[in-house]
Amino acid sequence: MRPLIAGNWKMNGRTDWTDRPVAFDSLLPSRERTSVEILICPPFTLISNLVEAAKGTDIQIGAQNCHANEAGAHTGEISAEMLADLGAAYIIVGHSERRAAGESSDDVSLKAQAAFRAGLTPIICVGETLEEREAGSAKEIVSAQISGSIPENPNKFVIAYEPVWAIGTGRVAEVGDIAQMHEHIREQVGPAVRLLYGGSVKPGNAGDILATPNVNGALIGGASLKAEDLAAIARQAL
Ligand code: 13P
Repeated sequence: MRPLIAGNWKMNGRTDWTDRPVAFDSLLPSRERTSVEILICPPFTLISNLVEAAKGTDIQIGAQNCHANEAGAHTGEISAEMLADLGAAYIIVGHSERRAAGESSDDVSLKAQAAFRAGLTPIICVGETLEEREAGSAKEIVSAQISGSIPENPNKFVIAYEPVWAIGTGRVAEVGDIAQMHEHIREQVGPAVRLLYGGSVKPGNAGDILATPNVNGALIGGASLKAEDLAAIARQAL
């Protein structure tokens, strides 16, 4: 399975970051370009600029969220169709930072459905909190999030396992724990779904993580803001 290296810029970046995908692309030797799929998900405000800037490169651009409806009276919201119109290829849905703000798996499922409707691929995020892991219920929680977040009769989708306690903390899950969880998720979703790991992935730990069975790529926050770091991670995805 072709690995997917996806950067989630979260709420970072201004228009003067528009050249970053090109800078990143220029750091990748040709082997990585064809063997690894690369995606950058900037804030909504930069999608248009980055789609334009990434033309002629192998970098795809995605979004970090969408509304479930196609259009209507939803002040401040953005639909999957609008993102498709801008040239986005993927949408991250159900990131733990959104689940923490009240998004349920039902909401995530509707957003994933919206992505399908617009012809985009959702990256459905799941992951347990530290409390849940310490209580021994990590697998149960993740399974419930997955079954609640995948719409019926889904098109192509990606799952990103991001343990909440590993996000932005510098604390990475043990490779053994990642292997166990990814095997568990694989049993649930089958062989065709790409499974990403996310949570403090950096150039220094990416090699071990990406070599773990059933890890088909990474969802990267902080380290995706630097072109050199993202390229160093992508090089280890082969
Ligand atoms: P960090 O890589 O900064 O820990 O963020 C992970 C993440 O939340 C990606 O979606």
